[in-house]
Amino acid sequence: MRILEAESYEKMSAIAAGIIGGQVLLKPDCVLGLATGSSPIGTYEELVKSCKAGVLDFSQVRTVNLDEYCGLFPESPQSYRWFMDHHLFDHVNIRKENTFLPNGTAPDIGAEAKRYEKLIDSLGGIDLQLLGIGHNGHIGFNEPTDSFPRYVHQVDLTESTIRANSRLFDRIEDVPKKAITMGIGTIMKAARILLIAGEDKKDIIQRAMYGEITPAVPASVLQLHRDVTVITCKK
Ligand code: F6R
Repeated sequence: MRILEAESYEKMSAIAAGIIGGQVLLKPDCVLGLATGSSPIGTYEELVKSCKAGVLDFSQVRTVNLDEYCGLFPESPQSYRWFMDHHLFDHVNIRKENTFLPNGTAPDIGAEAKRYEKLIDSLGGIDLQLLGIGHNGHIGFNEPTDSFPRYVHQVDLTESTIRANSRLFDRIEDVPKKAITMGIGTIMKAARILLIAGEDKKDIIQRAMYGEITPAVPASVLQLHRDVTVITCKK
């Protein structure tokens, strides 16, 4: 595991975008695993700049996102599909039909979970997975629990995650209580993993990367992956 400490959020974003850009240059039809949230916004801005400058070409890139809320339609500004379109896909030359997220409005979420896991495999697996991390150590929506979930599945969000995510909703009651997420096993199958964490995540990064490997701190499993880069930032 490589752990880099960037001077600032901007530098962390530039380094992360450099790693993702390198992946796209080396394998133009790569499969990128992507995340939403505050952490990757700067990274996506950098990728957009590189694409607009003609340095990166996303025309053959395929993407799979980690997760989506249950019950939100893609047009909802709080949906992760909307987030990805708004922060990345609408500003680079990616083909929308090559961008995938779990369908949180599928009538049968169990069947949707199976479909999404198979879809990732059918794309040839994830070349590089970008992750953020929750204050409780969650990755994707894999919340602390007593075993590592293997496949894409539906989750009940914890109170702390609902509270943390309520900043993006008008009222806390509007935050969906369920989501569909890649499992820990799905994430661990990625060839490379890149985790970015703001300075407010110092304590959980310490626990996850140097502490006991336990499903009570889901990100701690990354200690067992053979190619993980963690970028933190000082401020
Ligand atoms: C988002 C996701 C979450 C976030 C995590 C950190 O797709 O899967 O695990 O990465 O909650 O969120 P931020 O970056 O907003 O602190």
